[in-house]
Amino acid sequence: MALISPWRADFPGILALEAEAQTYLDSAATAQKPQAVLERLTDYYAHGAANVHRAQHLPGERATRAFEAVREQLAGWLNAADSREIIFTRGTTEAVNLLAYGLESQFQPGDEIVITALEHHANLLPWQQLAQRRRLKLVVLPLDASGDPDLAAARALIGPRTRLLAVSQLSNVLGRWTPLAALLQLARQHGALTVVDGAQGAVHARPDVQALDCDFYACSAHKLYSAEGVGVLYARQSAAKRLSHWQFGGEMVLDADFQQARFRPAPLGFEAGTPAIGAVLALGAALDYLQQLDSAAVQAHEGALHACLLDGLRQRPGLRLLGAPQLALASFSVEGMHGSDLAHLLSEQGVCLRNGHHCAMPLLKQLGLSGALRVSLGLYNDGADLQRFFAALDQAMELLQ
Ligand SMILES: Cc1ncc(COP(=O)(O)O)c(C=O)c1O
Repeated sequence: MALISPWRADFPGILALEAEAQTYLDSAATAQKPQAVLERLTDYYAHGAANVHRAQHLPGERATRAFEAVREQLAGWLNAADSREIIFTRGTTEAVNLLAYGLESQFQPGDEIVITALEHHANLLPWQQLAQRRRLKLVVLPLDASGDPDLAAARALIGPRTRLLAVSQLSNVLGRWTPLAALLQLARQHGALTVVDGAQGAVHARPDVQALDCDFYACSAHKLYSAEGVGVLYARQSAAKRLSHWQFGGEMVLDADFQQARFRPAPLGFEAGTPAIGAVLALGAALDYLQQLDSAAVQAHEGALHACLLDGLRQRPGLRLLGAPQLALASFSVEGMHGSDLAHLLSEQGVCLRNGHHCAMPLLKQLGLSGALRVSLGLYNDGADLQRFFAALDQAMELLQ
């Protein structure tokens, strides 16, 4: 397992954790940040913070220019047709909530919203609650044996009553790419809106929203090696016109009276209040950092690490791997052992991984589990991290046997 990450030294957080004898294998929850991101944050605050879109003074203009430049950059990164299609939110969760409130008036009782059985709560609960408010039907696509949404079932369940399809791009539990092209095409055939939750997917393959041909695409900066507090919602211009405003306050208004107001269109109409300016600028630095990497080399490294991870897990007797992960992560349980006992013993040995329901309780219930352990990889992980993990796992399993 002599897999060395050439990018590890770019991440001070990973090196600091290593110095504390901590092995970080929880990047699907949040990723460590490269030096370039830390520098951008410091640089912004050290040179004078200012609010955006308001002030005419020099720091205000500078902040606004830099902020809007990141919107342009994101439009390029996502291959959006226009930077006005990029709305800043606080994260994927807020982006999906924006849609579930903003599209509420588009639905009539009896209309159907389709999701899959593997959705993160962020792409389930906002739709479930909308369905309850408007008396809609929430249709859940079942999974096939490998953990993908079942396309034969999808062909039967996506139909003329389907008004919206919301699916994750890459499962945070099963580590598999969703067959988006087929699912989105079915939804489009019936004139339904399409929402892609790219919180995990955006990290492992650069998204192309025009190739996906989706109406909405959401992701979170903190999983993309940048700071918390910023999410991105791509909203195709034709679909954005169907959104009603949902949060009200500063800078989203065209004209306000005591009794009435008129609001801006997207994007600013959906960015009420002061945004996370420093974190948006940091996201620009994270994208610059990612774009100067050799993406084929990153994919090859992550793929080799993932193969090692699966190999090692499959060798452990009594260990049940969930589904057939393709990349980035692997979730598992061990027969006769409590996940929390294992996680406790692993954490005592300095291994940082995730245990629990992974914000996908219905999926875990369907798998007959109350929880599972999950190892997830970032581009800074290397073979030695996995060696430490397996040594700790063996010791924990021996103790619990
Ligand atoms: C697939 C998926 N969707 C949505 C989210 C929510 O992202 P955030 O907490 O950044 O809003 C996550 C977070 O783990 C996720 O894995």
